[in-house]
Amino acid sequence: MVEPKATDLMERIVSLCKRKGFIFQSSEIYGGINGFWDYGPLGAELKRNIKDYWWRAMTRWRQDVVGLEASIIMHPKVWHASGHTTTFADPMVDCLLTKKRFRADQIEPQSGTAYHYSGAQDASETVEGGPARNCAEPYSVLIETGKHPGYAQEIARKFYKERGVRWPTLLGERGEELQNTTRYNPDNGSLLTEPRLFNLMFKTHVGPVEDQENVAYLRPETAQAIFAQFKNVLDVARQKVPFGICQIGKAFRNEINPRNFTFRSREFEQMELEFFIRPDEAVEAVCGSVARPQGPGHPGRPQANWGWQMWHQYWVEERIGFYENIGLPRASLVEYWQKPEELAHYARATVDILYKFPFSKRDAAGEPAGEELEGIAARGDFDLSQHQRFSGKSMVVFDEELKAAWPKVEKERQEQLLNSYGQARLKYLTKSGEPEEKAVPQAREEADRLAQGYFVPHVIEPSAGVDRLALALICNAYAEDQAPDEKGKMESRIVLRLHPRVAPVKVAIFPLLKNRPELVGKAVEIRDLLRPHLAVFYDETGAIGRRYRRQDEAGTPFGVTVDFDTLGEKGPEFKDTVTLRARDTMQQTRMKINDLLPFLSEKIQ
Ligand code: GAP
Repeated sequence: MVEPKATDLMERIVSLCKRKGFIFQSSEIYGGINGFWDYGPLGAELKRNIKDYWWRAMTRWRQDVVGLEASIIMHPKVWHASGHTTTFADPMVDCLLTKKRFRADQIEPQSGTAYHYSGAQDASETVEGGPARNCAEPYSVLIETGKHPGYAQEIARKFYKERGVRWPTLLGERGEELQNTTRYNPDNGSLLTEPRLFNLMFKTHVGPVEDQENVAYLRPETAQAIFAQFKNVLDVARQKVPFGICQIGKAFRNEINPRNFTFRSREFEQMELEFFIRPDEAVEAVCGSVARPQGPGHPGRPQANWGWQMWHQYWVEERIGFYENIGLPRASLVEYWQKPEELAHYARATVDILYKFPFSKRDAAGEPAGEELEGIAARGDFDLSQHQRFSGKSMVVFDEELKAAWPKVEKERQEQLLNSYGQARLKYLTKSGEPEEKAVPQAREEADRLAQGYFVPHVIEPSAGVDRLALALICNAYAEDQAPDEKGKMESRIVLRLHPRVAPVKVAIFPLLKNRPELVGKAVEIRDLLRPHLAVFYDETGAIGRRYRRQDEAGTPFGVTVDFDTLGEKGPEFKDTVTLRARDTMQQTRMKINDLLPFLSEKIQ
């Protein structure tokens, strides 16, 4: 079978999502609203399954992670402390001709000949006898080298016409060869505006008065609430560092250019964990040394002597394992280590987990490079320190073991540890604008406090997007193959090979014929038996082959057919057995009704 081209494939996936009720455009009856999406019956189940599995894997099945559900709108100071009000911005450019908006850093570099014009003179006087409206605004158009300048002139005339020059005669044309420029609209060659920064947070007002005093923001990430509530959670959760707080919830970003279906949306959901750890100096004081990674791969069960690098590697591997457990094979993922120049100034390391979407750019070898599903960042103690500074509330924890261990550390090593901890604190304080005369004694004091068992915890942050994961799962599951129809003739089918853990419907129940009350009655009985435990779909209309096909497209992994054998017509040994059909292999097996629940439960756990 010929593989569909990537764009063609994406179109088919988008069309299936709408047709089957996974994803609809928000407010579609009013023409839609860019960057917002609604999840239909199947999509809502898929998202819920993703979030449920994440929640179970990240907190219920662990001793060391607890959950949080915070409000979307928080005190605006949260966003001053996190840096979002000042630095959460993307560079934006507009096409001077069409006004289309782009993110400047997402424009592909282009080469070609730029034709520059110094302005345009209006020939109206001579052509129509009306008053001339000249324009002295310079403008440029980039076209392929070797193409006739007439192409550039046509675009330029449109530009000057837009500015009121009715019959533009272009002035001062000058050609220039350009390499790898990002200053021109890739769609039409028109010059773009200079880049300007655009803050991505949605603003609103709290209360009836719309003034500066009442400005608030829709959260652009769920993480900050975890930091802001760190002390409250610590007080009640009977946890001590290392431990984590996780949260699932909506986030909002006024993206300049939402694109690739739901991949870059303006409203989306995040699943974030902040895992708090000791600074390495404290680990060494308690354990005598700090364990660091000895090579790639999962480092195993957490150990007390792990430094931040071990914890970081641990969470990268845990998260990749999570994706594999819901059906994204490792080969479909890319583990991308951000380069030093890409890291945020406070981050020590960040690994992005990418999925090879059909719309991903290709690398030099022609392979999809992948797009981000999740980032796993080692963020040091930056976040809690910021909230401590801005709120004036302590984010320091007391570590009994550290206090007890410190006096046993050799004097010389104590000095070295205090020095390295103090230097890191000094770096943070001076970067945050604290004058040196204040920062130096404060860093020294904080180092002294470490020796008494007090520190601001460091953090590892695995931060994932629900919507991107839902899209990755759909893309990964989408397949077109051949299946036999009623008469055994092969026909093409669309099948979503979703993992049973995330599949919206786990099993479909079909009576062979809808006009036979004994078959219908038994099928309804089975539906009601399974329904309290898993998502079931009952369907009695249409030929059985067509019913299978509908469920294949919905990603339902199993189908159960109640036939005359179920009623014992073929012999007592078949009574109360059904046909279980597997979506992917299309194999049919006979199974006792009583065995269905344990069988299905095992598949979806
Ligand atoms: N607290 C860290 C943080 O928010 P991020 O890389 O900006 O980091 C984390 O976002 C995840 O949220 C991304 O990996 C992605 O899955 C999801 N995400 C971010 N922006 C998104 C958008 N505009 N649309 C859909 N998902 C988005």
